[in-house]
Amino acid sequence: MKIEGQAALVTGGASGLGEATARELARLGAKVAVLDRNAELAAKVASEIGGVACVCDITDTDSVNAALDKAEAAHGTARILMNVAGIGSAKRIVGKDGNPAPLEDFVRVVNINLIGGYNMARLFAARCAKLPALDSGDEKGEKGVMLFTASVAAFDGQVGQQAYSASKGGLVGMTLPMARDLAQHAIRVCTVAPGLFATPLLLELPEAVQHSLAASIPFPPRLGKPSEFAELACHIVTNGHLNGEVIRLDGALRMAPR
Ligand SMILES: NC(=O)c1ccc[n+]([C@@H]2O[C@H](COP(=O)([O-])OP(=O)(O)OC[C@H]3O[C@@H](n4cnc5c(N)ncnc54)[C@H](O)[C@@H]3O)[C@@H](O)[C@H]2O)c1
Repeated sequence: MKIEGQAALVTGGASGLGEATARELARLGAKVAVLDRNAELAAKVASEIGGVACVCDITDTDSVNAALDKAEAAHGTARILMNVAGIGSAKRIVGKDGNPAPLEDFVRVVNINLIGGYNMARLFAARCAKLPALDSGDEKGEKGVMLFTASVAAFDGQVGQQAYSASKGGLVGMTLPMARDLAQHAIRVCTVAPGLFATPLLLELPEAVQHSLAASIPFPPRLGKPSEFAELACHIVTNGHLNGEVIRLDGALRMAPR
């Protein structure tokens, strides 16, 4: 699908990988809606890229529908959904004090990363499916495309990452059945599993820790750039044969147990 002129939604578009994706989509000519629960940063990014900020919580159906209505009023119904919003977590299942990990922590992470992603996908897909198919060139017949953002922790999660890995593994597991399901509506679904990227989360760590994380990546031995994630996200949109696939973007990194 050609990106130019399309309406696109980016969850988590106010920061990090989502922000880079929103900026790249706008650079390539998309009309971008920045969906994020951080109102201030969403407004900043949206105004810088000529897009629209739609404040929402991806786990809350009413707030997502209101955000989709706002985006649609500004740009028309979106054919592109970049699901990038997510949170991290680290909690041992049996704490140092011998107590079990609080169940609420596990529920919170799965609720945002996995159920929030599914919620966005279903609400986007129902609207996108009603659009007419594109009717030119290689894009003939296509209606839309969406991306999920998993993590290498879906495959090699570290000590304490049960909730995070479960949530990201859920996105990985959902990718193929969703692509199969949405094939009848001509909507493609892919997932990117990033390794270690230089986003606010990692850049807040002490420099020594950043260096040792970077050195653990076989090649190139540096943190991934958000722009590299954004380039892959946009390639998934333009490459009409990519569907139902999970792509690691990690410099051949395999995380150690801790
Ligand atoms: N940075 C990395 O190295 C890395 C590696 C693997 C996977 N990831 C995944 O990439 C995604 C983006 O990570 P990042 O590093 O850019 O993080 P980030 O914290 O910079 O950005 C995440 C954005 O998501 C938003 N968000 C969180 N929960 C939300 C909710 N319920 N509703 C709406 N918006 C919400 C936040 O407000 C924030 O703007 C996450 O899903 C993360 O798990 C990141």
